[in-house]
Amino acid sequence: MSKKLIVYYSMDGNTKMIAKMIHEKTGADMVMLNTVIPYTGTDEEIVQQGREEVNRGHLPDLEPLPVHLAEYDTIILGTPTWWYTMAPAVHSFIRRNNLSGKTVIPFQTHAGWPGHTLQDIEAAAKGAQVRNGKQIQFSAQEFGKLVTPEKEVREWIETL
Ligand SMILES: Cc1cc2nc3c(=O)[nH]c(=O)nc-3n(C[C@H](O)[C@H](O)[C@H](O)COP(=O)(O)O)c2cc1C
Repeated sequence: MSKKLIVYYSMDGNTKMIAKMIHEKTGADMVMLNTVIPYTGTDEEIVQQGREEVNRGHLPDLEPLPVHLAEYDTIILGTPTWWYTMAPAVHSFIRRNNLSGKTVIPFQTHAGWPGHTLQDIEAAAKGAQVRNGKQIQFSAQEFGKLVTPEKEVREWIETL
């Protein structure tokens, strides 16, 4: 039996909502990534800070994880889309941990412009087997409102 861990970052709750659906169905352990320095300011300011961080490949420091990654062989890794790629916190997680030999199943939430997020995760997670990635669209107007049919999300979760 493979031991699975859900790792996710979420600024506004969409990615967290999917992580919780996965957790409820699979019973896998679940941890959220937290940056040491929280993002503050208006939505617009955070979007601009996110752009600047993505552009320079900034890897924010993360709070220590309350789990031992070595105990898990599969990481279900969730990220919001930030400027067509993974959120910097998720980039930090991948770069600062040894995922070699593990299976990584990435999922991204987005608002209509998924970009190259899943490919970027695969390229960053050196030595890991990255497979079965999923893009999940939410409303750009209303947090928590799925655009991708919930049935489609649940069918993907069944495969985990
Ligand atoms: C800094 C920033 C950049 C974003 N860039 C994109 C983008 O490139 N494409 C897109 O579809 N949505 C983009 N969004 C919207 C989020 O990806 C989307 O709302 C996501 O589901 C939010 O997940 P969360 O609620 O877990 O934070 C961006 C949001 C933020 C805050």
